[in-house]
Amino acid sequence: MKAIVVTDRAAGLAGMKLTERPEPTAAINDVVVQIHASGFVPTEMDWPSTWTDRSGRDRTPSIPGHELAGVVTALGYGTTGLNVGQRVFGLADWHRDGTLAEFVAMEARNLAPLPGDVDFTVGASLPISGLTAWQGLFQHGRLQAGQSVLAHGAAGAVGSMVTQLAHEAGAYVIGTGRAADRQKALDFGANEFVDLDNDALEDAGGVDLVFDVIGGDIGKRSARLVRAGGTVVSVVGPPVPRPADGWAIDFVVETDRAQLIEIVQRVRDGRLRTNIGGIATLDNAIAALNPSGRRKGKSIIRVRP
Ligand SMILES: NC(=O)c1ccc[n+]([C@@H]2O[C@H](COP(=O)([O-])OP(=O)(O)OC[C@H]3O[C@@H](n4cnc5c(N)ncnc54)[C@H](OP(=O)(O)O)[C@@H]3O)[C@@H](O)[C@H]2O)c1
Repeated sequence: MKAIVVTDRAAGLAGMKLTERPEPTAAINDVVVQIHASGFVPTEMDWPSTWTDRSGRDRTPSIPGHELAGVVTALGYGTTGLNVGQRVFGLADWHRDGTLAEFVAMEARNLAPLPGDVDFTVGASLPISGLTAWQGLFQHGRLQAGQSVLAHGAAGAVGSMVTQLAHEAGAYVIGTGRAADRQKALDFGANEFVDLDNDALEDAGGVDLVFDVIGGDIGKRSARLVRAGGTVVSVVGPPVPRPADGWAIDFVVETDRAQLIEIVQRVRDGRLRTNIGGIATLDNAIAALNPSGRRKGKSIIRVRP
């Protein structure tokens, strides 16, 4: 099969190569999925799981990409819950070969059915950003209606989902980002916007929940804005600055079939919009995933035309 592989950690995104790899086979409780569309997070080359297996052994050449939408073509020994021919979408294991390829083998429990009226490119854009936003807001952040959320990077892949889901849940959302992101963040449902390059973040006042996708100095300053009993939820790694009288948590998104179903249902009924910046073929994927300018949302690779 055609696949994009990486072998050289130091080369970063520029080290991606389009090549031929053997088709994967289904292990216990796995399915093989013929991939129609794949999603990719630009920071994947920095993740240890891109380079090593769960025991820390080198697993290169590895196939990056962990989000997918496609059709099940084979079931492994003992696999239940999905059928051959079924449309699915989901999140592949961080430590196994990923989704910038024509086929992937992965555990069936990491997938959910993709309704027939949802395009594969849309399905592939949802798992990481949608689940990260959902888990950060509702599981880790315990967001309640009427609370306020500081949604960093509100025009980005995760931030746009955070903004929309928080808005739908009845929260007051303060989006942040670059000056050029203001209108996009407001369109996703932010009540107000802080341009981090030109406005004073501190003017955002006290908030109940900070959803941090930026970290560093922005993360530290944001923790000071949390009201008593509030929470900083971060997805950019520890240490997370802890508010004086509140909570701090850093987490890595986990796949969850019920949450994937909730997310795709919201896309179908118009409560949630995807944030796809561009769609490229697998043949053109390396150029698309190495853009010279700013990314404008998720980059999706249409593997099957
Ligand atoms: N732990 C997890 O489970 C998990 C899951 C998903 C994502 N993540 C992480 O979350 C981060 C965001 O991912 P993403 O896919 O949402 O990326 P993205 O689509 O690039 O969104 C990030 C947004 O934040 C903006 N931003 C970043 N730094 C900024 C700054 N200093 N001032 C103003 N705006 C700034 C970016 O603008 P520019 O492009 O102009 O910088 C972009 O609009 C990544 O580090 C990713 O690895 C973690």
